Amino acid sequence: MTMTNFLPFKFLLSLFLLVWTATSSSVSGDRKTYIIHMDKSAMPVPFSTHHDWYMSTLSSLSSPNGVAPTHLYTYTHVMDGFSAVLSQAHLDQIRNIPGHLAAYPDTIGHLHTTHTPKFLGLKKRVGIWPTAGFGNDIIIGVIDTGIWPESESFKDDNMPPVPPRWRGMCEVGTAFNTSNCNRKLIGARSFSKGLKQRGFNISKTDDYDSPRDFFGHGTHTSSTAAGSPVQHADYFGYAEGTATGIAPMARIAMYKVLFATDDFESAATDVLAGMDQAIEDGVDVMSLSLGFPETVFDGNPIAIGAFAALKKGIFVSCSAGNSGPDAYSILNGAPWITTIGAGTVDRDYAAHITLGDNELILTGRSVYPENLFVSEVPIYFGHGNQSKEQCDPFSLDPKDVAGKYVFCTRQSSEIFRSGAAGGIFSSDTGQFLEPTEFNMPFVIINPTDGELVKNYIINAKNNATVSIKFQITVLGTKPAPQVAYFSSRGPAGQSPYILKPDILAPGVDILASWIPNRGWQPIRDQYLLSDYAIISGTSMSCPHVAGIAALLKAVHLDWSSAAIRSAMMTTANIYDNANGIIVDMDNGAAGTPLDFGAGHVNPNKAMDPGLVYDIEVEDYINYLCGLNYTSNQIRVLTGTSNFTCEQANLDLNYPSFIVILNNTNTTSINFKRVLTNVADGSSVYRSMVTAPNGMEVVVQPATISFAGKYSKAEFNMTVSISLGTNAIPQDDYIGNFGFLSWYEVNGKHIVRSPIVSAFAP
Ligand SMILES: *[C@@H]1O[C@H](CO)[C@@H](O)[C@H](O)[C@H]1NC(C)=O
Ligand SMILES: *[C@@H]1O[C@H](CO)[C@@H](O)[C@H](O)[C@H]1NC(C)=O
Ligand SMILES: *[C@@H]1O[C@H](CO)[C@@H](O)[C@H](O)[C@H]1NC(C)=O
Ligand SMILES: *[C@@H]1O[C@H](CO)[C@@H](O)[C@H](O)[C@H]1NC(C)=O
Ligand SMILES: *[C@@H]1O[C@H](CO)[C@@H](O)[C@H](O)[C@H]1NC(C)=O
Ligand SMILES: *[C@@H]1O[C@H](CO)[C@@H](O)[C@H](O)[C@H]1NC(C)=O
Ligand SMILES: *[C@@H]1O[C@H](CO)[C@@H](O)[C@H](O)[C@H]1NC(C)=O
Ligand SMILES: *[C@@H]1O[C@H](CO)[C@@H](O)[C@H](O)[C@H]1NC(C)=O
Ligand SMILES: *[C@@H]1O[C@H](CO)[C@@H](O)[C@H](O)[C@H]1NC(C)=O
Repeated sequence: MTMTNFLPFKFLLSLFLLVWTATSSSVSGDRKTYIIHMDKSAMPVPFSTHHDWYMSTLSSLSSPNGVAPTHLYTYTHVMDGFSAVLSQAHLDQIRNIPGHLAAYPDTIGHLHTTHTPKFLGLKKRVGIWPTAGFGNDIIIGVIDTGIWPESESFKDDNMPPVPPRWRGMCEVGTAFNTSNCNRKLIGARSFSKGLKQRGFNISKTDDYDSPRDFFGHGTHTSSTAAGSPVQHADYFGYAEGTATGIAPMARIAMYKVLFATDDFESAATDVLAGMDQAIEDGVDVMSLSLGFPETVFDGNPIAIGAFAALKKGIFVSCSAGNSGPDAYSILNGAPWITTIGAGTVDRDYAAHITLGDNELILTGRSVYPENLFVSEVPIYFGHGNQSKEQCDPFSLDPKDVAGKYVFCTRQSSEIFRSGAAGGIFSSDTGQFLEPTEFNMPFVIINPTDGELVKNYIINAKNNATVSIKFQITVLGTKPAPQVAYFSSRGPAGQSPYILKPDILAPGVDILASWIPNRGWQPIRDQYLLSDYAIISGTSMSCPHVAGIAALLKAVHLDWSSAAIRSAMMTTANIYDNANGIIVDMDNGAAGTPLDFGAGHVNPNKAMDPGLVYDIEVEDYINYLCGLNYTSNQIRVLTGTSNFTCEQANLDLNYPSFIVILNNTNTTSINFKRVLTNVADGSSVYRSMVTAPNGMEVVVQPATISFAGKYSKAEFNMTVSISLGTNAIPQDDYIGNFGFLSWYEVNGKHIVRSPIVSAFAP
């Protein structure tokens, strides 16, 4: 087993914090980084490129305090404009230049892996969806912390040559050069100018000034989306098997925008630059496991970049955030983004416990990273220090517990301090522990089993013993999936009229590749290295959907991003493997579409949805008009000025329905939708409604028919709250949900959409 004495990054974080504070205080006066949106049609004739125009504009600004502006990036695809470090005086001048549309200060984004509290428990093997062969030649751009190119997941055995349409490249930098790319990893770049302008100094951290991954997060997400199969991958004996990305034949291009600041952050300017480059290079799918504060969409770099991607037919998958279980905690909630929540999987990590001479046999949760078999070791329940509660700090006398296992009625680090051999903890919080918390041989059992253990020890007097077998992986645990407690919940604050999240994908205890050179798993006072890590977050669910989108693109080259999302949503599972509605892990009760969107993604079914709810670029513009965005805001966000708001409309052709209650007497809401047949031949579909409690749902017409592939049919759906003229008692309706399903007559397709009610923000 490999050991390291390197500081793990959790310890380094406090150092980064110091570096950050020290350097950012030295940034001069009122200079700040801004993102400037420009109208390219106002470019004066002499300039041949908009970049030249921006550079000339910047150099013509007068600098009263003597410090000239600093250009960071010129943006071509995500927007027309640039970013630069400007003083207030510069900004005032730029605002008066013909062609200036808007200026936003740079903001900071965070990645979406959970840190505390963490899980222990369910896990699904990566690549369980049997879709081998698909994903061929689809290019997934991953916007993340970089990549570890030597990882086995990025080997290019059996990969055909790089598609000639690819325009990307491998950047040379610290510990990275062009020979790190191959037919699997076909591009790698890094973007840090924005962070550097905020005072972040890469050389003062151990991060690499190159696309190389210093954290592991980007290596994990990339290998989840499109890693090559790796035999016998495991995490210290747990979850052993073949690790495979969801689209194993797809290509990966890494755009590193997240760096080791105190909390692994990225600047909006850098994210825009990464997305701009990804569009330029020719990616087909983008995966972003990070988020910025939810502001108006024209002030959010991911919303802006994703709109530009949409116009080019690039599918954008984003994590929904780890701020659940509160309502309105969604990030990346723009309707043109596919917003992914996190669910558990049906795998668990365990230890088998035998008390005495087979007197009691139990299974508990453990991810202790050693192949340890403890045989008939004394088990201790008591406290040497009578002034303390058992298992409190300094309650155990090292003489009493040496060589023994200690039983505690909760998780306790006292076993480590006291020098005991290990512990058995009785607690119902075991499922919230992450693997890295198992730094000692301990097992968590549920409180019911805890009572049995306690009684056994008391009855056995001074002769209680325990045997434990660690490194047990349990498959088929139920119920699964569940909505992860941390997964952000709908509605989406910036646009509640569209249900978010869209869909759930595996995001709890996901095994994927990791960086091999930094201690990750603590064991006593040391750290173990690993090529793989088991981690949790909507960061992990997002690349699953990016991989599935790559598979769907490989099968259906002509589908729009909205059609791909629709196919995933209308075929998603709403039932778990115990045949109940997907449970919310937070409270153990049935979840609602505000928790799981349309349900848990089912890639095989998504390949053949029958019908899709498609959306055009103009429909999104009409939706922004419906949100009362100004013409200027819409222009900044969408990069077009060729629109009117005559068709302003909040009723986007979305594959889900949300009724926002707002203490009004409105008792009925109309939705108009258009379905497109994507199956071969003609077909007829009949509607079937499961109405939410207390609501009446009418669909007209109730039967629709399609003459052939790509023919369309329109329907109306009215949702009425049957309370007559009384004001709606909102609380009775929050999260009430049902479904509209279109059943193919004499066919196999079922096209299901959730209908859910929620309160206004
Ligand atoms: C790239 O780096 C590797 C070592 O990391 C080295 O062996 C190789 O020669 C380098 N290639 C180029 C083109 O610089
Ligand atoms: C960054 O840190 C290195 C090492 O401490 C130092 O040599 C360099 O001058 C710093 N750069 C800036 C821009 O502060
Ligand atoms: C103590 O327990 C062990 C194992 O269960 C058993 O073999 C032994 O006889 C017991 N001793 C006493 C004194 O009960
Ligand atoms: C018992 O607890 C008291 C109070 O915290 C502490 O001062 C004392 O050192 C402890 N005794 C032992 C033997 O740990
Ligand atoms: C947009 O403005 C109109 C007119 O003021 C108002 O009736 C409507 O409620 C607003 N829509 C939204 C989504 O705020
Ligand atoms: C503007 O939009 C209209 C209607 O969508 C379209 O016919 C026209 O070609 C567009 N004009 C330009 C310059 O893109
Ligand atoms: C849907 O409702 C609108 C407005 O009431 C109506 O004009 C349209 O004909 C209806 N469409 C269908 C297919 O019933
Ligand atoms: C809703 O209707 C009730 C009963 O008619 C009335 O008292 C109340 O003022 C109405 N509320 C609103 C917001 O219009
Ligand atoms: C709810 O009503 C308030 C007050 O009329 C309004 O400001 C707000 O925009 C409404 N919210 C939604 C989501 O319609």
